[in-house]
Amino acid sequence: MASRSRIAFVACASLTLAAWALFAAASGQTQAVDAEGHPWWQHAVFYEIYPRSFADSNHDGIGDLNGIRARLDYLRWLGVDAVWLTPTFPSPQVDFGYDVSDYRNVNPEYGTLADMDRLIADARKKNIRVILDFVMNHTSDQHPWFLESSSSRANPKRNWYVWRDSVKGNQPPNNWVSLFGGPAWKFDPRTNQWYYHFFYPQQPDLNWRNPAVEQAMFDVTRWWYRRGVAGFRLDAVDTLFEDPDLRDNPLVDHQRNAYGDPVEREIYDRNLPEVHSVLQRLRRVADQSNAVLIGETWTQNVAGLKAYYGAHGNELQMPMDFLFTMVNQLSAPEFRRQIAAVDAAGGWPVYVMSNHDIPRVYDRYGDGKHNDQIAKLIAALYLTLRGTPILYYGEEIGMENRDPQRREDVKDPIGKLGWPQEKGRDGERTPMQWDAGPNAGFSPATPWLPVGPRFAAYNVAVEQKDPGSILNFYRRLLALRHTDPALLEGRYVPLNDNDASVLAYLRSYKGRNVVVLLNMTAAARTVHLDLAAKSVQARAASPLLVSSANSKANGAADFALEPFGVYIGELR
Ligand code: NOJ
Repeated sequence: MASRSRIAFVACASLTLAAWALFAAASGQTQAVDAEGHPWWQHAVFYEIYPRSFADSNHDGIGDLNGIRARLDYLRWLGVDAVWLTPTFPSPQVDFGYDVSDYRNVNPEYGTLADMDRLIADARKKNIRVILDFVMNHTSDQHPWFLESSSSRANPKRNWYVWRDSVKGNQPPNNWVSLFGGPAWKFDPRTNQWYYHFFYPQQPDLNWRNPAVEQAMFDVTRWWYRRGVAGFRLDAVDTLFEDPDLRDNPLVDHQRNAYGDPVEREIYDRNLPEVHSVLQRLRRVADQSNAVLIGETWTQNVAGLKAYYGAHGNELQMPMDFLFTMVNQLSAPEFRRQIAAVDAAGGWPVYVMSNHDIPRVYDRYGDGKHNDQIAKLIAALYLTLRGTPILYYGEEIGMENRDPQRREDVKDPIGKLGWPQEKGRDGERTPMQWDAGPNAGFSPATPWLPVGPRFAAYNVAVEQKDPGSILNFYRRLLALRHTDPALLEGRYVPLNDNDASVLAYLRSYKGRNVVVLLNMTAAARTVHLDLAAKSVQARAASPLLVSSANSKANGAADFALEPFGVYIGELR
């Protein structure tokens, strides 16, 4: 996860899935691919679920696995092919599941292992795959491995974590600060050493230089593959390794972050090259189960992102492009530049707009007046690009952040620590809005976080009935991207490179050209496309999906777009 100061922070799927089956290779070692060589996950739409906030089946105000299972038909209706669940393992919940105390079970708040098995099986029957969140960098300080490791210097698990002596008398081993505030080292008076934690002190870092750690963690993935999970989202992969000499990070001028800590250039505690060999070996394990690995890959640039695919495509199939999320303003040139850079990087792009750490689209791009149009515009952007999109729950209904107003209401510890500059991530984790009833239909009990401010109008039940809703726009878009050959297989061809207002591109496949026009401004615009420059001949355009009849074509090359208008059409 990046520090929040750096980022102000399928109706036709049965057809597509039949195609996978057709091309499925008999060997369990080979990924089934379609006619163009695409494995299932390249055409899939992934949907991130924050289980605590999705649907509460047992009425305790906290979402659970049976709640998710009860909503599978909704996900199928929407056009989702795979769900990624943020961690559901037993955990003291200091970091809401990202502090795992047992990798092979389910937190009782969320259900049982049998509930997870049922969820995986029922989802599979609806052609939805389940991806779990693999917290690799650290465990909970309550994990039996850490309890053993911290019990004595002589314990066989001592070297499973990163322990060091004090320096200069009683000082921590170096100047590293935790991403979540304070020093990255915690002193343990019992054994008179410090342990390292990139995140909270309750999240001690595993020592990935110890082969026993690798073996135990890889076995966890094998265990879940046998239970039917289709892959993992790998948490915080850029933090697995630290400089063995523990050199101090250079400081950035005299800057301080929201927690009052010095701002450091994270060159010795982040993105170390050793991670790549671990990922190559983890990929070999995944390949034995046709599983997909999605990376939480924060990188400074596209070269760093590219490295996560592996030099021979032998690391992560889906490293997430967080550089895309850093385009924090509706700017056609900025998005054009970032798309081109990632599209040219050689791997299969993975587009994310928001998640449980990043404020929602509505808040980041909304102008207060055209928020619904802007939500549709962003949908049309990341769902028509070449690559795999990951949709964060609730974006499809235009959910917005509800940030806490008072420090005492904050649940996310970083929000308490960094208040008021850093309010934490509660705002983007509020309950899913199912209907206009009490607690937005999430739960009859008081939810663990309050529901969003405008749930009465922005919810699944209301929006399903409104043909012009954000939800129905998403659904039509997902159906289109699952059936249109150019959106499935086509090249990305940028158009009108110098247009400051409208992002324009083609998706081209075997002579079929689908044009996507996105007006990123509050003014109506006209667009003339220089198709000859791209050797495209066409006489007319016919709409496939438009934001309204006010966004329209006049021939094949001239278009009118309403403010924040979307035109997706076929050139003929
Ligand atoms: C990234 C996760 O997305 C975030 O929610 C969590 O706090 C950190 N990793 C630590 O696991």
